[in-house]
Amino acid sequence: MSRARPKRWSGRAPGRVNLIGEHVDYLGGVVLPVAVDRHVQVSGVASPDWTIDSEVGGGLAYLRSLGEELGETPQAVRVESDVPPGAGISSSAALLVAIAAGLKPTMDGVKAALACQRAEQKATGVQVGVMDQFTSALGRRGHALLLDCKSLVYRPVPFPDELVIAVIDSGEHRSLADTPYNQRRLEAEAGEPNRMRHVDSEIARVHAFVEALEERRFERLGRLLKESHQSLRDDFEVSTPTVDAIVEKAWAVVGCLGARIMGAGFGGSILALMERGREKNLADAIDRPVLLCSTADGAFVHRAARAKPI
Ligand code: GLA
Repeated sequence: MSRARPKRWSGRAPGRVNLIGEHVDYLGGVVLPVAVDRHVQVSGVASPDWTIDSEVGGGLAYLRSLGEELGETPQAVRVESDVPPGAGISSSAALLVAIAAGLKPTMDGVKAALACQRAEQKATGVQVGVMDQFTSALGRRGHALLLDCKSLVYRPVPFPDELVIAVIDSGEHRSLADTPYNQRRLEAEAGEPNRMRHVDSEIARVHAFVEALEERRFERLGRLLKESHQSLRDDFEVSTPTVDAIVEKAWAVVGCLGARIMGAGFGGSILALMERGREKNLADAIDRPVLLCSTADGAFVHRAARAKPI
């Protein structure tokens, strides 16, 4: 009996930037991320074992745990990416979501994001929230996603053309497993007062940020980013002196509305919101790589159910 030739599949998913709402996703808070125009592209074919061919290296543990989550047999996976690894725009979430989209193209985007989150938790031991995977799966071009991480109800919020998203690589790259990420999560879950002050004030800032976006009060956006950084630095304690120095430099750049540490922290990257036309000032003032990003659609967005209001 002749065997069917193995079918090659492919998938593609974007990285993400979080505008505001940091270290609140795993507590069921609200976040405001954006899927961005840097993508991980994968292709694969059934194989006796899971294998990965990627310029970045690593990733096998992610593949294996995602395979388990999706109930898939082993695949040989090839990865191409213009998501800079370690630059803080969630290349790992994009890798997982790209594979899920390739292997299970008809899967519901919310379910896919949850499967990718569990796969990342299992592969790394880091109890990440759902924000990164959700954004890579269901972000919308031209929009940020206001996502309630408890109910998983979300609403696209238009992102103004006049603003440019810039991501600065601090140069302090780290694997989350080697950071106190899990410890911070436990402290916040235990209601430790400083940690809770950050969580409560950050959630209020997310709502204020959405309001300011809708009312096009751009300086207010900047002030909220600045307050978010101070809260992450002083109350949640996830910043570093190197990051603080870059953030302060960015605050002083003409055309920069505001800047803050982004993502998990402990180094990583900095988000700066720039007035369009003045984004070059940032690269001129800061002696670190600056990535300018546009909004993009998530990998499962064409199948997304109609967004429900929060
Ligand atoms: C990482 C995690 C997210 C989130 C952020 C902090 O990116 O993967 O789930 O917790 O840190 O906001």
